[in-house]
Amino acid sequence: MATLCRFSRLSPYYSGVVQQLTRLASVNSLRCMSGLSAQFEESKNRLSKLKNDPGNEAKLKIYALFKQSTIGTVNTKRPGMMDFVGRAKWDAWNALGSMSQEEAQKAYIDYINSLVAEEQEEQQETQTTSSTQKYECLDVTVQDGLCVIKLNRPKKKNAITVQMYNEWSSALKEADEDPGVVITAVTGAGDFYCSGNDLSNFMNIPPEGMKQMAIDSGKLLNRFVSSFIDFKKPLIAVVNGPAVGVSVTIMALFDAVYATDKATFHTPFSALGQSPEGCSSYTFPRIMGTSKATELLLFNKKITAHEAEKIGFVSEVFPDSSFQQEVWPRLQALSKLPINSLIFSKALTRDMEKDVLHKVNDIECDRLVERWLSDDCAKAIMAFFSRKK
Ligand code: COA
Repeated sequence: MATLCRFSRLSPYYSGVVQQLTRLASVNSLRCMSGLSAQFEESKNRLSKLKNDPGNEAKLKIYALFKQSTIGTVNTKRPGMMDFVGRAKWDAWNALGSMSQEEAQKAYIDYINSLVAEEQEEQQETQTTSSTQKYECLDVTVQDGLCVIKLNRPKKKNAITVQMYNEWSSALKEADEDPGVVITAVTGAGDFYCSGNDLSNFMNIPPEGMKQMAIDSGKLLNRFVSSFIDFKKPLIAVVNGPAVGVSVTIMALFDAVYATDKATFHTPFSALGQSPEGCSSYTFPRIMGTSKATELLLFNKKITAHEAEKIGFVSEVFPDSSFQQEVWPRLQALSKLPINSLIFSKALTRDMEKDVLHKVNDIECDRLVERWLSDDCAKAIMAFFSRKK
């Protein structure tokens, strides 16, 4: 209730709300707790730990969901004209209509979790001990041994432009060489992890023509994938939402993959007239067996996070409502492990395959240069952009 008390200091109009919530909270704690009500109680604790004032709109929403969760549909008269705060609260509660108490509890839990996650993200940004502004498409931070590479084109679902491929490779190299980095994590800004290759890369045809563009793109992709094959330290994907194309294939070169249950994994290569990259033609069958790999790499099957976990592609799936709160502290704890032990252990599990992976990368990129010049690919890309128009 500490935060609620803080609310009341910030706005005297809320003191009544605080008293009511405090009373309702203590009544509620006497009840026998089911799984949902335990989470509900936990959310109230989380709310009390918020450091920042979430704003009046958020407080109204919290109030309304709390009342609906604990009492149900609004059961009082609308306050008079002059009591505009009382009216605003009543209106917010009334707007929930016939939402059941269980639904309201769930919505309350999700909302508090989102506020806590937002605050943690802000804190992470401000506490950053070293942050580099030199990347335009990435947000890279290093704190207490944890390097976070965030793909940062949320409006384009973090699609990877030529610039982003280069920046991502540079950021990996820097993290590998920085003695202060132990664990490196990759995640996405916004609701997507990444939508794969930015298809408009194919629209920027140089004066030398399409063939040159395909050759240059092949070299770019080869360098990009090599930077994952050669990465010495533990690399973890924090998959915050759907992942498409090359962002999925290179995940098999990561050391662990943590995903929200909202994430999906999709490699629609044949639908685009293309072929697998990121060494997935080799890694996928080894991880999940040929039959599952075929469904993903040839038949464009999109799988859920839980399906991906079942076939050994994802290490662990978390509920979306607690994903950020659970994953980052875990990675921060891992960043305290002794770095040399991690580097040597990774080398033992990976190095036997390094040469094979580089060969596979070469072969896949050569095939893609041919595919990018095919009619199938041109038609699929035109279809994507005309769909948008
Ligand atoms: N390349 C280029 N632009 C992309 C993109 C990509 N891979 N993925 C998303 N975008 C752009 C969209 O064109 C759109 O741009 P606009 O706002 O200027 O029109 C914006 O990002 C948002 O995407 P939108 O399609 O509106 O969002 P959505 O939620 O409906 O769908 C996707 C998201 C990712 C499913 C859809 O955009 C898509 O299928 N993208 C292509 C994915 C792909 O084929 N990648 C290559 C795999 S090999």
